[in-house]
Amino acid sequence: MKRIFVAGSSNTDLIVQCDRLPGPGETVLGGDLVRAQGGKGANQAVAAARLGGQVTFFCRVGEDGFGEASLAAYQSEGIDTRFCVKDKSAASGAALILVDRAGENSIAVAPGANANLSPRDVEPLQDEVQEGDLILLQLEIPISTVRRAAEIGYAKGARVILDPAPAPEAGLPASLLSMLDTITPNQHEADLLCGSISSNQGPETLLERGVKQVIVTMDREGCRLISSTGSRSFPAYPVQAVDSTAAGDAFAGAFAVGLAEGFNIDNAISWAQQAAALSVTRMGAQPSLPTRKELLTYDFHTG
Ligand code: RIB
Repeated sequence: MKRIFVAGSSNTDLIVQCDRLPGPGETVLGGDLVRAQGGKGANQAVAAARLGGQVTFFCRVGEDGFGEASLAAYQSEGIDTRFCVKDKSAASGAALILVDRAGENSIAVAPGANANLSPRDVEPLQDEVQEGDLILLQLEIPISTVRRAAEIGYAKGARVILDPAPAPEAGLPASLLSMLDTITPNQHEADLLCGSISSNQGPETLLERGVKQVIVTMDREGCRLISSTGSRSFPAYPVQAVDSTAAGDAFAGAFAVGLAEGFNIDNAISWAQQAAALSVTRMGAQPSLPTRKELLTYDFHTG
């Protein structure tokens, strides 16, 4: 089986469930404070590992309790943490998350040590990555590091997959886009990345700028695959949403495992959609990510 490399953020999530998300200047009362492992990079790594992927994770955490707990958690998932760095000069990343009754969330991230994950930190990819391996990236770490990881992966013949979240308003350079096998934005992110926010042409523009295939995620409406051979829609699996946090990360991790195991693109997308759907039925980021057994036995008709 092909290996999966993830370079990205590691956060500790502090979560409060409330009836509705507060507006600007407003205070709402919520439920108990829940602490859970999170961070888009770490979530992708854990999602892939729980589904049977052979995962190596590149991240930075602070030399503090949050960082220690995170590294211990990744190791207990069977993730290779040789390239996870303890940063002496910054605190571990943390995210403040509010979740409403419909499972929608709002998230603010304090990047901490994630902001120090440097191009040099991902240089060991040179010795580790082989042709056909998978590299998963997101945008909670410096863009220079994302670019270096993509460069190494592209040169080695690996498939580089980017979840462009949080999407930078300045967009992404064509030099990075052209090294991507797959990008997985929602429609808003796709438009923002191309500077064409009102055109709805973001996905097509990403293709023109060199991405091999675009998967536009559309929450309850499923997703759309767009490539040079055309466009196809994949309906979502219906579930009772409790918390949508990390649904995109579950999708990315499962998609990578599918490709690593040799699934065709349609089957890899369906498998990823099932993982994402199951994750939204449960609270928290990493606590919500399904194991392989859970995913294979879950009945999407009866729930
Ligand atoms: O994608 C969900 C993640 O975004 C959360 O776990 C939080 O840490 C933020 O990084």
